[in-house]
Amino acid sequence: MTCASEPRRALVLGLCGSLRAGSTNRTLLMAASRIAPNGVDLLDYRGVGDLPHYNPDDDVDPLPASVVQLRALVGKADGLLVSCPEYAAGIPGAFKNALDWLVGGDEMHAKPVAIWRPSSRGEVATAALRLVLRMVAARIVDEHVCSSWPGGRSARVEDLLRDTAWTGEVRGALDRFCDAIQNET
Ligand SMILES: Cc1cc2nc3c(=O)[nH]c(=O)nc-3n(C[C@H](O)[C@H](O)[C@H](O)COP(=O)(O)O)c2cc1C
Repeated sequence: MTCASEPRRALVLGLCGSLRAGSTNRTLLMAASRIAPNGVDLLDYRGVGDLPHYNPDDDVDPLPASVVQLRALVGKADGLLVSCPEYAAGIPGAFKNALDWLVGGDEMHAKPVAIWRPSSRGEVATAALRLVLRMVAARIVDEHVCSSWPGGRSARVEDLLRDTAWTGEVRGALDRFCDAIQNET
């Protein structure tokens, strides 16, 4: 039962830029969801690969169901946590496609966003993300680059969570982001 005086839970929507089955970016988001602060739900959005290719002709009512779902989730979220790899010196096409579908709605307007990376590689894609996010008037309130990746490239969530230094660092980044979100509302 929810008590009327209970503070509302915050919703953070995790957006992964990789569709790859053992994606390090997705593993980072999944590990983060396991150590989210009390009162915060981190939902890992899995629909990037289901979105149709963006075409302005289709950006009219009735919108494709997958686009309606994405926009509704973004609209409902208190903040977005983006973790995205770099492909050919840019944002991976499928993820850029998802971002393009968000241009036509107003859900991104003033939305607090954190951009994370599992490693120091990929700074060109991060710079491109900043441009796109500013274009849709989102507010980039935090960025975090993991200083280590315990267990190597094929590390699983449990490998990361076992490393107390890693979890401490990521929890710190999450706390920072959640504080920024709460200061918004
Ligand atoms: C097609 C392709 C292009 C890539 N291009 C770049 C690049 O331009 N710069 C870079 O730093 N890494 C590049 N990479 C490496 C990926 O960014 C890196 O492997 C990343 O960890 C993949 O993310 P994931 O583990 O979440 O799938 C590329 C990888 C692929 C498959």
